[in-house]
Amino acid sequence: MSDAWLDALDPDPGISLAAWLGEARAAGLHEPEAAALATATPDGWPSVRMVLVRGVAEQDLRVYTNHESRKAGELRATGRAALCFHWSLPLHRQVRVEGRVERLTDDEAQRYFDTRARESRLGAWASPQSRPLADRAELDRRYAEATERFADREVPLPEWWGGYRMIPHAFELWQNRPNRLHDRARYERAGDGWSRTRLGP
Ligand SMILES: Cc1cc2nc3c(=O)[nH]c(=O)nc-3n(C[C@H](O)[C@H](O)[C@H](O)COP(=O)(O)O)c2cc1C
Repeated sequence: MSDAWLDALDPDPGISLAAWLGEARAAGLHEPEAAALATATPDGWPSVRMVLVRGVAEQDLRVYTNHESRKAGELRATGRAALCFHWSLPLHRQVRVEGRVERLTDDEAQRYFDTRARESRLGAWASPQSRPLADRAELDRRYAEATERFADREVPLPEWWGGYRMIPHAFELWQNRPNRLHDRARYERAGDGWSRTRLGP
């Protein structure tokens, strides 16, 4: 049976996601790489937070963070995650991705770290992400210490900072339509390719 919307999508959902990201950028949306990252503890307690997903255009979904953060602990404990992108008007689209995750090598982390603004690299040294701080002053003091420590040299990659790659096994592309009769395509990994199914909205 023919299904014009579904048939217009690329058979590879990573290519469709990259194309939709490109359209979100072209539409001028702020931080179109932002997505909600869901993780869970080994006994199933979920948690979710926003992250910036790098490498979408190259179909290599990467998230960079502090390895001692809550999210990183859960990513390592389960090796699983889900992402949800949302692009508001004028696109009105959502993309969900589910898959396994693996830690990037320190070399890969270093390459990305080197692209970050100096202030962000200092921030990685200053922030004990996901752990308690006495007050704002403690964070500011830690940032000032990092600034002084690396005053006359490049800011190195902290040993606790790096990234994770998602290896997707399912995608869902969602397009808003009138009367809440939205278009939904669920892709699942099938051998070397993907199966594709339209779902009810
Ligand atoms: C739009 C947006 C993008 C963010 N991107 C990142 C990111 O790429 N990496 C990161 O560690 N935290 C990012 N954060 C902060 C996280 O949402 C979160 O507060 C932090 O990583 C701690 O999460 P955790 O305690 O669950 O590990 C971002 C927040 C927002 C609102």
